[in-house]
Amino acid sequence: MTFTFVTLFSNLIEGYFNDSILKRAMEKSLFSVKYLNPRDFSTNKHSKVDDTAFGGGAGMVMNPQPLFDALDSLKKEDENVHIVFMTPVAKPFVQNDAKRLAKKSHVAFVSGRYEGIDERVIEKYADEVFSIGDYILTGGELASLVVCDAVSRNIEGVLGNSASLEVESFETPLLEAPSFSKPKLYEGLSVPSEYLKGNHSKIRSLKLALSESKTKFFRPQELKKHKATQKLS
Ligand code: ADE
Repeated sequence: MTFTFVTLFSNLIEGYFNDSILKRAMEKSLFSVKYLNPRDFSTNKHSKVDDTAFGGGAGMVMNPQPLFDALDSLKKEDENVHIVFMTPVAKPFVQNDAKRLAKKSHVAFVSGRYEGIDERVIEKYADEVFSIGDYILTGGELASLVVCDAVSRNIEGVLGNSASLEVESFETPLLEAPSFSKPKLYEGLSVPSEYLKGNHSKIRSLKLALSESKTKFFRPQELKKHKATQKLS
């Protein structure tokens, strides 16, 4: 699996892969990361990549030419590359997307800076367009990293223990039950006693009850959906 970040600012991204789980996964060749800078493809004599927006408006828009040429070169190298644009004007990225993208051989994330990307680039090259939430970032780099992180932990072997993937929040409509570790008592705060007794069926039912109460508190609509599907089955 290959991830290519198409960005003017690869230094914003690189550090994330220099430690922890993703570093180990790269050392095991479970995936590799590449960078492509649209500025390297600019035909402008000052390597300019942006300009003012037609129709007015504040800020600069990324020009089509450097991105067309960068993405053409990417597609020429690998015709199977799946090109994803990160922008707040898109459908929200969810866990099912992460699982689906983890099966691709090559995913490229295109990050916009300034006020955005000339729409013709998105129209011509986007296989998919994602937003990571209803807020505006200064650029798509963080959003690309968020999506890449969520995808890469779904690649076989990255987490080491695939069981931990199965019980996660969003695999079911309920949010995950809380976790506890040692010590049993810390600054007067205890772990729920059922968690400590080793009766797995009681632990399971307590966790389900806690999952439901977390979901009711944070995502009441999701709990309603869950209850409705349970009634149907
Ligand atoms: N670029 C700027 N804001 C973004 C967002 N919320 N999601 C994806 N890309 C973005």
